[in-house]
Amino acid sequence: TLARRKTPIMNFDLKTLELTAAATEKCDLLVVLVPEGFRPGQDALSVLAAHALKCGDLKAKAGTHLQLYLAPAVSARRVVLLGAGNGSARAIRQALQAIATTFKLPQVKRAVVCFAGEAQPDGVSAAVQAVADASYVYATTKPKAEARTLNRVVIGVVHAEPVREAFAHGVGLVAGVEFAREWGNRPANHATPSLLADAAKSLGSQPRIQCKVHGPAEVARLGMGAFMAVARGSEEPLRLIELRYSGASKSDAPVVLVGKGITFDTGGISIKPAAEMDEMKFDMCGAASVLGVFRALGELQPAINVVGLIPACENMPDGRAVKPGDVVTSMSGQTIEVLNTDAEGRLVLCDVLTYAARFKPAAVVDIATLTGACVIALGSVRSGLFANNDVLAAALSAAGDEAQDLCWRMPLDEDYAEGLKSNFADMGNVAGRAGGSITAAKFLQRFVGEFPWAHLDIAGTAWKSGAGKGSTGRPVGLLVHYLLGHAQQRSATGTVKAVKPALPSRRKFQSKPA
Ligand code: BES
Ligand code: MN
Ligand code: ZN
Repeated sequence: TLARRKTPIMNFDLKTLELTAAATEKCDLLVVLVPEGFRPGQDALSVLAAHALKCGDLKAKAGTHLQLYLAPAVSARRVVLLGAGNGSARAIRQALQAIATTFKLPQVKRAVVCFAGEAQPDGVSAAVQAVADASYVYATTKPKAEARTLNRVVIGVVHAEPVREAFAHGVGLVAGVEFAREWGNRPANHATPSLLADAAKSLGSQPRIQCKVHGPAEVARLGMGAFMAVARGSEEPLRLIELRYSGASKSDAPVVLVGKGITFDTGGISIKPAAEMDEMKFDMCGAASVLGVFRALGELQPAINVVGLIPACENMPDGRAVKPGDVVTSMSGQTIEVLNTDAEGRLVLCDVLTYAARFKPAAVVDIATLTGACVIALGSVRSGLFANNDVLAAALSAAGDEAQDLCWRMPLDEDYAEGLKSNFADMGNVAGRAGGSITAAKFLQRFVGEFPWAHLDIAGTAWKSGAGKGSTGRPVGLLVHYLLGHAQQRSATGTVKAVKPALPSRRKFQSKPA
């Protein structure tokens, strides 16, 4: 069936490779990353790069490049000399993005990406990520399309040991990002709440991961009146997905991730305009990012506990749908006047934030394509970050910088909650147009218990519109970096012991979405 079509397997290897040795690597594409201050040797590639630099046809500035064929004494079928700037994660990413189309060429099956000069750990991890990003092809519902042809990538460095861990992190992360992209991209009729739940269950086959799925009856029993109100208008039954990754002892408080899983957002009775409504299939990208994180955790096996919670449903207009003015009772007991049925994300999230308290979390992070207002505020460069805790906010910001998956902290002053007042319930689900991403966050905050909480509004960053329309896999990079940092910090302070010894992490990953 269509769902079985997948982005094919891609293998990454890290190899000790000086430019002398790189010249004899048999491959379809050899990329030589030439940094600022490049010191050429006597080998063929050095001589080429030095000459190109001298002639001014190549610059060390990240992204400038030169393609060569039949280079003397070089085995590769094509060579790209590529400026690598200062070799930082940002520069390496920029550089490889500049030649992104090369990685999609059908002739390029085997590629070697070689660092000329010392490689930085973050740069190596960024290289893995950038090559994967560039070669990714969505093919699930395009039976005739060319799937990814690149299947083997060698990252060549002068010294492998200092960058081995970063390389492994990059490879594990890629598996997670591609899982998130795949599910983000699938059309709503190929990614229903039940199918999302099946994808989550498939992750349960990885070591240390368990998955439980609750249906409408259990959600009703839990009293999630706000979540149920959103799902009412749809023929597709809702799902509450619960994932656990257990890498530390039971007593270690978990980080809880909550992902908005609206598999299609029509707006409901407050229906959206027709133009670009197709993009509301991406309204489950928060959920997809949680699935992606678990995919990466399965690969990386860090010593940490993580819980993933996903409220999944469609937001549809119907004779049974929730109507503007209806008052619903949330799991917290607070009542909500649904003034606009298109502000549904906060309704499904609020009940799950209440539910999250039972895990006695070290921190809760929700991830949601929550507001168009956040797109206006921050565009597609940075996700919106809201937090009730400065330490958590700083950790997430720093993780975003490391992963080159940026976010920006936004305010949560109590004055912003003014507009949520209602004459008929404890609160309305919308305030005015002004500061829309902040008032949405203020709504969520009313359901947050006594734990550090952050909210990532990814409405502008989770997918791209236009010719390159598609899911980005963000913010899986930010979240995985945050979790790995969290694990490392806890083991350093001795607050956490790993349970059974971690499995040898697999260096090669298979991008199997379902
Ligand atoms: N899923 C949308 C947010 C969205 C809109 C993301 C456009 C990306 C692009 C969300 O459910 C929504 O409809 N939000 C409303 C809230 C409003 C009714 C207060 C919005 O942003 O318009
Ligand atoms: Mn909506
Ligand atoms: Zn929505």
